[in-house]
Amino acid sequence: MPDPRTADTALPEGADVDVVDLLLTQHARIEEQFLLVIGASGKERQQAFDDLVRLLAVHETAEEEVVHPLSRTLGDSDGIVDDRLEEERQAKEMLRTLLEAGAGSDGFEASLLLLRNAVLTHARYEERYEFPQLRAKVPADQLRRLAGVVRAAEAAAPTRPHPGIESATANIVAGPELAVADRARDLIRDAARRAEAK
Ligand SMILES: [Fe+2]
Ligand SMILES: [Fe+2]
Repeated sequence: MPDPRTADTALPEGADVDVVDLLLTQHARIEEQFLLVIGASGKERQQAFDDLVRLLAVHETAEEEVVHPLSRTLGDSDGIVDDRLEEERQAKEMLRTLLEAGAGSDGFEASLLLLRNAVLTHARYEERYEFPQLRAKVPADQLRRLAGVVRAAEAAAPTRPHPGIESATANIVAGPELAVADRARDLIRDAARRAEAK
C-alpha cells in the first residue's frame, strides 16, 4: 500500500502554517484516499475505505466545530455556512449507507463515486467561498492558533502506519469508524479551549 503521507498530503509544519493550510492538505488527502479505495479490492479495499471514513470524520468534525462557526462571525456568511453544513449532512448520510452495506457490497463502487463527487464538490465550494473569507477577515495569528485544533483532531485517527509497524498502532485506529468523530470532537473542544486561553 502506498504511504499516504507523501509530498503534498503530509501535513505542513512550522510556525507559519495556519488552519486553512491544514484543511487544504486534508482535502488533497481525502481526494487521494478515494483513489486508493477505488484502486483496491477485497480486504485492502475495506481497509482503505475505513481509513477514508476516519479521515472524513476528523476533517468534517474540525470544520463543523471550529471553522464554520468562525465563518458565521464574519458577517454576510450565514448563507455560505448553511449551504456547507447541508452538503456535509448529505455526505454523512451517503457515507452511513455505504458503511452499513460494506465495501464488498453490490453497488459499492457506484455509491462511492457518488459520495466522492459530493465530497469533492463540497471541498471546492469551501475553497472558493469560505476559506478566502477566513484569510481576508480573520487575524493571521488566530488562524495559526487554530491550526493546533486541527492537529489535535488528527490524533483521534492516526494515519495508517507503514507496513511493519502496523500492529503497534492497530489498536489505536480500531473501533467503529464513526466513533472517531466523537473522539475528534472531544479533542477539538479541549484544544479550542486551550487556544482561547492563550
Ligand atoms: Fe466540509
Ligand atoms: Fe473541508
